[in-house]
Amino acid sequence: ASHPNVGLFNHLKGISVINGDLKSLSPKVRAYVEENVDLCKPEKIHICDGTEQENNHLLNLMQQHGTIVPLPKYQNCWLARTNPADTARVESKTFISTEKRAETIPTTKEGIKGTLGNWISPRDMDVAIKDRFTGCMKGRTMYIVPFSMGPVSSPLAKIGIQLTDSAYVVVSMRVMTRMGQAVLNKLADGTDFVKCLHSVGIPASGFVEMASWPCDPERTIILHRPQNNEIVSYGSGYGGNSLLGKKCFALRIGSTIAKREGWLAEHMLILGVTNPTGKKRYIAAAFPSACGKTNLAMMTPSLPGYKIECVGDDIAWMRFDNNGQLRAINPENGFFGVAPGTSNSSNPIAMKTIFKNTIFTNVASTSDGGVFWEGMEDEVDDGVKITDWRGKPWVKGESNTPAAHPNSRFCTPAKQCPIIDPQWEAPEGVPISAILFGGRRPTGVPLVYEARDWKHGVLIGAGMRSEATAAAEHKGKVIMHDPFAMRPFFGYNFGDYLEHWLSMEKKSTNLPKIFHVNWFRKGSDGKFLWPGFGENSRVLDWILRRLDNEECARDTAIGLIPKAESLNLEGLEGKVNVEELFNLPKTFWMEEAYAIEKYFNEQVGMDLPLIIDQELKKLKKRLIFS
Ligand code: GDP
Ligand code: PGA
Ligand code: MN
Ligand code: MN
Repeated sequence: ASHPNVGLFNHLKGISVINGDLKSLSPKVRAYVEENVDLCKPEKIHICDGTEQENNHLLNLMQQHGTIVPLPKYQNCWLARTNPADTARVESKTFISTEKRAETIPTTKEGIKGTLGNWISPRDMDVAIKDRFTGCMKGRTMYIVPFSMGPVSSPLAKIGIQLTDSAYVVVSMRVMTRMGQAVLNKLADGTDFVKCLHSVGIPASGFVEMASWPCDPERTIILHRPQNNEIVSYGSGYGGNSLLGKKCFALRIGSTIAKREGWLAEHMLILGVTNPTGKKRYIAAAFPSACGKTNLAMMTPSLPGYKIECVGDDIAWMRFDNNGQLRAINPENGFFGVAPGTSNSSNPIAMKTIFKNTIFTNVASTSDGGVFWEGMEDEVDDGVKITDWRGKPWVKGESNTPAAHPNSRFCTPAKQCPIIDPQWEAPEGVPISAILFGGRRPTGVPLVYEARDWKHGVLIGAGMRSEATAAAEHKGKVIMHDPFAMRPFFGYNFGDYLEHWLSMEKKSTNLPKIFHVNWFRKGSDGKFLWPGFGENSRVLDWILRRLDNEECARDTAIGLIPKAESLNLEGLEGKVNVEELFNLPKTFWMEEAYAIEKYFNEQVGMDLPLIIDQELKKLKKRLIFS
């Protein structure tokens, strides 16, 4: 068995390869395929080349199975309806596997349940895989999906191979990553890749509830083994769980690679902003899922003379170059965006992007062959009948459930975005001048404030909190800690992650400035105090002026906020209560600091860097004397 082909042919006997040639795969890829064919026992193998022909074939196949329906109102658009039990990321079933638990999660205070990720032992991971994957692809096709995170030619790009039994995953990966033959070619020289195994699974009973969307919600599990650059996902077809290049690779495994190699893998949008004098800067911003990244990345500025261009809407890989300039690439190739709330008034650029070559998931459909979701009320013609995301008739004002699932999504190619940045695929990345943190904070947190320095900025990221959203399985709108908007995506111990962020300070004399923003503060009437969306350009304007060292800020206990009248509100329609937007109630902030301290004590304990503890003490002291 010294010849590499011998083992392969023995194992794969009787399995038909319906596309591509196994012999053309690099030995490493072949070995990975062979091992998992053995485990999953598919009937057929399809090596994906990424061609349009292949894509059309898969779309046809899915249409035959009822997984997708065409949306004839648009060009090459499709609607997928999932099993209603499979609509979001499953954070409680997501694990990182390391020899020692402390490599993955901070050691919590005794009796306290950890909320900064889930650990699984390597042995239990092996058992979990064996239990679920043995024979799980019987009668199905295993697709071999070669993909690159980042432009194939970029030195910053990383490659993955996803094995999956879902055609929906293949066509979605073709949108979200660079997928196909070019990647296989790059692997020919023995280049390593991240191993991504995925199956939608079969319930233990053998009974598939919804033939058009097989899944196994009872046993769904998402596993990561950073040491081997390995991801294993079972039981779910939902994007965040099944498009393994995205959260699993680019963030969880990515953050562990970034730690080793000295860079940052973050849950951040990247945008370019040009001011009226023509000066252009790039900004990266971390907001939790469903808190405004895609909208900010594609914003239509209301302030005259401003221009926004989009580099990415969800993930940034960033490193300091030899000149100490932080540079970012967007490792993705598409947008997997929240549909509800997207409209010509809130995000006209997204509306210009998504009505061709797009896969919609769990949105409502219209009798004229289009889509509908909450926020599109003004975009559908009268007399059009609506069918909700579950396929039931839906009538505006009568039905008491939403037409579209709150976490329904569009999956659309980035290059279709009319304001995609000319540098969005620049192999060296774009220079980052500012980093924004933010979340949904209905009370107490001002529209914008600036960190005093890098260390204080890291504390602000570490102390981030936000209202829960429909992006994961959380119930209700409870305020949750979500440090760096990365809580569901840390690939290693959060204490070490903070240490890593702090260590960036010595890599540069030209560090980006750090800010915190909050578009979601509410007044006593329960309504948003700030109009948001395009009006957020007013906040970006202030931030850019701060980057130019304009003295438009005043010091407060929590950081620097706009001086009176320094936020440009010219031409803003309707009244905005600026005083309330920037009010810093002392009791609120004392409680906030206490909540962060409690969180650090209970959740991070001894793993908290001393510097963060000191920064928090400084904040508390400033608050007491304010
Ligand atoms: P992402 O998941 O972080 O990319 O968030 P999105 O940009 O998709 O936005 C999620 C939800 O928040 C959508 O329903 C948006 O309409 C809403 N949203 C985004 N930006 C704003 C804003 O500035 N103000 C308000 N009130 N809502 C916003
Ligand atoms: P989002 O991306 O941040 O656009 O919501 C998906 C997710 O985080 O689940
Ligand atoms: Mn995200
Ligand atoms: Mn988004």
